[in-house]
Amino acid sequence: MSDTPILQGIDLKKTYQLGRLEVPVLHGASIQIQARAWTTILGTSGSGKSTLLHLLGGLDRPDKDSGDVLFKGASVWSRTNRQINRYRNHDIGFVFQFYHLLPELNIFENTLLPTMIAGSKLPKAQNKAKATKLLDQFGLGHRLSHRPRELSGGERQRAAIARALVNDPDVLLADEPTGNLDEETGNEILDVLSELYDGGLTVVMVTHNNEIACRGDVVVNLRDGHILEN
Ligand SMILES: Nc1ncnc2c1ncn2[C@@H]1O[C@H](COP(=O)(O)OP(=O)(O)OP(=O)(O)O)[C@@H](O)[C@H]1O
Ligand SMILES: [Mg+2]
Repeated sequence: MSDTPILQGIDLKKTYQLGRLEVPVLHGASIQIQARAWTTILGTSGSGKSTLLHLLGGLDRPDKDSGDVLFKGASVWSRTNRQINRYRNHDIGFVFQFYHLLPELNIFENTLLPTMIAGSKLPKAQNKAKATKLLDQFGLGHRLSHRPRELSGGERQRAAIARALVNDPDVLLADEPTGNLDEETGNEILDVLSELYDGGLTVVMVTHNNEIACRGDVVVNLRDGHILEN
């Protein structure tokens, strides 16, 4: 395992604005993600897990002058919007608790979608082949033309993982990926993540569930917007 973290959150602060009310959520959270590790961020509901993951993955911006995210040692949040879009779409893959698949697109089209955003490095035909291969790998080869509503929860999440991987990201960020599934189906999704991790992917998973946290090789505790020292 390399000593230089692939991803770092440094002194991250995040305050949401609800009308005139300020809601401070992260109070200077710092976290180091090692390449090829499976890091689990464990915390109770409302502790700021999703917020932290969104900042790390370029989905939401930290408070002004409050710290930064470093990817391979380079600042993410001092980049231009266009560069941040590229980071979000190519360097990072996201998996959400509620899948966030587009209902009007079939599974194949959903998987292909990230290749159409922020400029793909590969020709169309190669992207299509990649999407087909990933869906095959996750047991959905016979479901390509199905809409998300025609699939089970586990199948939807496997499609969402295929979508997250289609641009070959270095890091997969998964926010409660089993939170909407029964235990058995959830375990199948964790097995998929395990296989990807065994294949060398860096995995960061958020959960409030102690049992699930055991799957990772590093557990980081988040409480009330602070990372607890191990
Ligand atoms: N857009 C927003 N506007 C205002 N407050 C928000 C917003 N998003 C989150 N919050 C608040 O920030 C706090 C942390 O939210 P966050 O979603 O990061 O927690 P979490 O640890 O992911 O919780 P859960 O386990 O329930 O998903 C919560 O108190 C939440 O109400
Ligand atoms: Mg959350």
